[in-house]
Amino acid sequence: MRALCWMGVNDLQVNTVPDPRIVNPHDVILKVRLTTTCGSDLHLIDGYIPTMREGDVIGHAYMGEIVEVGREVKRLRVGDRVVVPSFLGCGTCWYCDHDLWSLCDNTHPKPELAEPVLGYPPAAIPGYSHAFSGLAGSHATYIRVLHGDVNCFHVPEGITDEQALFLSDSVPTGWTGADFCDIREGDTIAVWGCGAVGLMAQRSALLQGAGRVIAIDRLPERLALARDKIGSETIDYSDSDSVLEELREMTGGRGPDACIEAVGMEAHGTGPQYALDRAKQALHLQTDRGSALREAAMAVRKGGVLSVVGVYGVIDKFPFGMLTNKGITMRTSQQPGQRYMPAMMAAVQAGELDPSFLITHRMSLENAPRGYELFKNKEDGCLRAVFTP
Ligand SMILES: NC(=O)c1ccc[n+]([C@@H]2O[C@H](COP(=O)([O-])OP(=O)(O)OC[C@H]3O[C@@H](n4cnc5c(N)ncnc54)[C@H](O)[C@@H]3O)[C@@H](O)[C@H]2O)c1
Ligand SMILES: [Zn+2]
Ligand SMILES: [Zn+2]
Repeated sequence: MRALCWMGVNDLQVNTVPDPRIVNPHDVILKVRLTTTCGSDLHLIDGYIPTMREGDVIGHAYMGEIVEVGREVKRLRVGDRVVVPSFLGCGTCWYCDHDLWSLCDNTHPKPELAEPVLGYPPAAIPGYSHAFSGLAGSHATYIRVLHGDVNCFHVPEGITDEQALFLSDSVPTGWTGADFCDIREGDTIAVWGCGAVGLMAQRSALLQGAGRVIAIDRLPERLALARDKIGSETIDYSDSDSVLEELREMTGGRGPDACIEAVGMEAHGTGPQYALDRAKQALHLQTDRGSALREAAMAVRKGGVLSVVGVYGVIDKFPFGMLTNKGITMRTSQQPGQRYMPAMMAAVQAGELDPSFLITHRMSLENAPRGYELFKNKEDGCLRAVFTP
């Protein structure tokens, strides 16, 4: 089959690789119908995620059609149209049982690579380095899905492939970020980042009861989407003397009830702290640039929630004492999409959520390297490039 392979930092190629096959009787093989880029892939392409190997197939946001089922698979048939959350659960461990699917104890095939850094291994995610499983990713003709019965969700008629695709990754991540905020009717939620994840966090916050959402970014086309497609108020941080001051003014001096960080380790910024972050990241003294995370922590009101869905590794100069002195609850996780799938599907069916507007570029898998170039450089307004294998 054809697949998009990581060949080195900033080097992606479409190659012919072996087809996946059923290894465990609970596996299914999916023919990928659509697969898309994610901000997390940029961290791999730019070389910030260790344990990538030449030839690894990347991609973790996808939907498709079942073409083969293992002999223990009960709920799925060849021909079913399904979407799969990017982190895979087993459905039977303590974590899956507690709806903490991205923490599943059983799906990571190489826990010895994750334990030295994390203590315990997270759930497996395909296409995202060996420390996160080493499973082949979704930018390919076919993908093997572990524990098909609990990870494949039927897409009902009336929901299009393009809508279902985003229930794999961007929507559940945004939904998680909003859920962590314990939103009370009318709350004001500020969201850093208007990428697909940030936009879906904004939409989810409104669906979960927020009265106001304030979105922060610098790319005009993304800020326009936040206003027009979601109904957020916006702040362009590149055009602001102080995002903190603006937020304070917009919230009667108190600050947002919760702040969602949906930017991650490659944040941009201004001023000397940003210059220092860039220099340290370039010299590998830290992996992350923390401007958005620091600002979100600073901006949240006393007693509020700091919800972090942006991906980080090691960050310097995070003012930890501020969390204590302001009584902040900080919550963070990789998204447990299985937990939210019924609510997300219902919102799409009811017409309250249509994530298909996130697609700015459609292309064949053969053109995926170009798609990633557009996405990485935010060229031509690229928000999500979607590939058809
Ligand atoms: N926790 C999870 O399960 C999970 C799942 C998917 C993605 N993610 C992470 O979410 C983050 C966002 O993903 P995405 O696909 O939307 O990425 P993206 O790169 O498309 O968007 C990031 C946005 O942040 C903006 N930005 C940069 N610096 C900023 C700053 N200082 N203040 C405000 N905005 C700033 C950029 O202009 C851009 O629009 C990434 O770190 C990604 O790894 C996490
Ligand atoms: Zn992702
Ligand atoms: Zn499990």
